[in-house]
Parts: sequence; C-alpha cells; structure tokens
Amino acid sequence: MPVGAPHATVLGLGVHRAKRIVPNSEVIAAIDSSDEWIQQRSGIKERRWVGPDETLESMSLEACRLALANASIEPAQVDAIIVATCTHTMQTPALAAKLAHLLGTQSPAAFDISAACAGFCHALSLANDMVRAGTARHVLVVGAELLSEMTSRTDRGTAFIFGDGAGAVVVGPSDVPGIGPVVWGSDGEQFDAIRQSTDWREVLASESPVMPYIQMDGGAVFRWASFEMAKIAQETLDRTGISVEDIDLFIPHQANMRIIDAMARAMKLPEHVRIARDIAEQGNTSAASIPLALGRMYDEGEARSGDLALFIAFGAGLSYAAQVVRVP
Ligand SMILES: CC(C)(COP(=O)(O)OP(=O)(O)OC[C@H]1O[C@@H](n2cnc3c(N)ncnc32)[C@H](O)[C@@H]1OP(=O)(O)O)[C@@H](O)C(=O)NCCC(=O)NCCS
Repeated sequence: MPVGAPHATVLGLGVHRAKRIVPNSEVIAAIDSSDEWIQQRSGIKERRWVGPDETLESMSLEACRLALANASIEPAQVDAIIVATCTHTMQTPALAAKLAHLLGTQSPAAFDISAACAGFCHALSLANDMVRAGTARHVLVVGAELLSEMTSRTDRGTAFIFGDGAGAVVVGPSDVPGIGPVVWGSDGEQFDAIRQSTDWREVLASESPVMPYIQMDGGAVFRWASFEMAKIAQETLDRTGISVEDIDLFIPHQANMRIIDAMARAMKLPEHVRIARDIAEQGNTSAASIPLALGRMYDEGEARSGDLALFIAFGAGLSYAAQVVRVP
C-alpha cells in the first residue's frame, strides 16, 4: 500500500496571460453595446485573447514551466498532471498527456477533467487527495482555456465576457495543512444554463458548419452564483474550522464583478480581506481564472507567501468547488 503524506500544500504557481489586449471598444460594434454598459454590468474593461503564436498548449506549457520553477520541482519529480479545461478541441488524447511529454516528465499519470469554470478547484481537490493517499507525491494542476475561439462575436450575452490564459500549481507533501477540505457539488437541474451551442454531430450535419460556441442564460447564472455561492463559501470556512476573519484573500472565480461584490457583501468580508478583481483586465477565463487572479495579486503586492486564501469556483453543470488554501 502506498503511504501518503500527512498533508498536502501548494508549492508554486505559474501563469500565462494571452498576449493580445482586447479593449471593450473592439467588441461592442458586433453586439450593439457600449464600453459603459459592459463595465457597469460585468466590470470588464478589457480582456486577453491569444495572439497568432499562442495556443492552448503553449499557454499551458508556459504556466507549467513557471509553476515548476517557482516550486523548485524538476519535471522528473511530477507523478501526475491534471488539466482542467473545456476548450481543448481534441476530445482525445488529453492535453495533460501532451504536456507531460513536452515538459520532459517521466511517465506521470496524465488526464484532463471537465468541470468548466469550477475545473481548477476540482483538480486541486483531487491533487490534495492523491498526495495524502500516497498515489502521487507531486501533482501539476493546470487550469487553461482558449475561450476566444469558442465565443460568438455576435452573441450579446457572452461576446464581451471571455478571455484566454492558463495557470498552474504544483501540489506536494507537507507536514502542516496547506489545502483545506473541499466543498463541491452540482445542480444538474440547471445543466444547460451554460452550454456548448451545438453538439459536434449537429455541426457535422450542417451544410455550413461553424465552430460551436458557449451559450449562457446569463440571468439564471447570475442569480444562482450571487445567492447560492456565498453559502458554499461560508460552508467551506466552517468545514475548515476558521472564520471569515481568518482569511487574507478572497479569490472567487472571475465571472462578473457584480457577482464578486454580491458574494463579498453576503459573506460580510472584513476590510482586511483582499478581493481578487482580475476580471477587469483579463475577462472570464473559466478554469484558468483563479490561478490567474492569484498571479495578479502577487504582482500587485496584495498576496504574500503564507496568506490564507478562500478559493471558490462555479460554472457550467452547474458545478462548484471551494477550498481554503495557504498560498505559496
Ligand atoms: C451577461 C450579463 C452581464 C447580462 O447582464 P444583465 O444585467 O443580466 O442583462 P440582461 O440580460 O438582463 O439585459 C438587461 C438589458 O441590457 C440589454 N443588453 C443585453 N446584453 C447587452 C449588451 N451586450 N450590450 C448592451 N445591452 C445589452 C438587454 O437587451 C436588456 O435591455 P432592456 O432592459 O431594454 O430589455 C449577466 O447576466 C451576467 O453576468 N451573468 C452571469 C454571467 C456569468 O457569470 N457567466 C459565467 C459563469 S461561469
């Protein structure tokens, strides 16, 4: 039987933001909108979309290399790679297997998971369990999305929301707890509130096939996230055995600034808690949004090594996952 570590922790973070800065002025004409409307309803000023030399794979690779370097872990020490994504256009093989090869690792377990915007927190929880169970010692957890390719430029409810990028963390053994218990779940009754516009079979049957894009019932998602997720956040703190006073950072999925504000109000976050607001310059990057948001907080001096952060992610499914993390 493998022997697990007493606890697991996040050892290092790496992020890659897509290079092209796309201001609201570039997306408004096709959806009869305005910079003012987008900022007021979503908090987004600009988003990042891939440049000509960037792909889902290249962004993920860069994030992984930085995470390994920051964790002082060699590729050969990686026992498993988990990629959370909903925009890998090859149904098989997994992007994780390609990354394993490109990183120069030595036969790690490598698989992708599909939990949309909640994917990173799901993968982080799996990594936490694997390290403690002894089925892996070091796990690379990646959240990566190339959403600009799966966004309709003329869909008023989504054309301005999504962005591209990747974030990765290395999870490894620790003598003290670094990742708290997960609270996760789904509300399958709303399984089609956020969805791919068309099934691949319908695309193939079409006389003029187009790439499927993400569709969303914005109002339903907004209400669900604003009211239900604050309760999940509180349950996560309760299960960790801490109070809102004990956290330093609140890093929710970057879906909409108004959802972030509604959650912060409902949770009665004290003044000292710094709140991630990466969405303003990055857009919503689904599974990549939490590591990217943490990356910006380091860059802007808002996060320091050892801070206690509450992660909470939610999206298509509708699925959610949350945990408290001691940041590296
Ligand atoms: C998409 C979203 C920003 C729309 O905001 P909203 O306040 O719900 O907007 P509504 O759809 O109710 O529309 C309000 C008005 O704005 C108009 N409108 C809708 N989209 C618009 C756009 N892109 N530009 C300008 N006006 C727009 C509507 O026609 C409507 O006009 P009316 O009042 O004259 O009828 C919001 O629903 C949202 O953010 N939802 C959650 C999205 C999310 O988090 N997704 C990711 C989950 S992982």
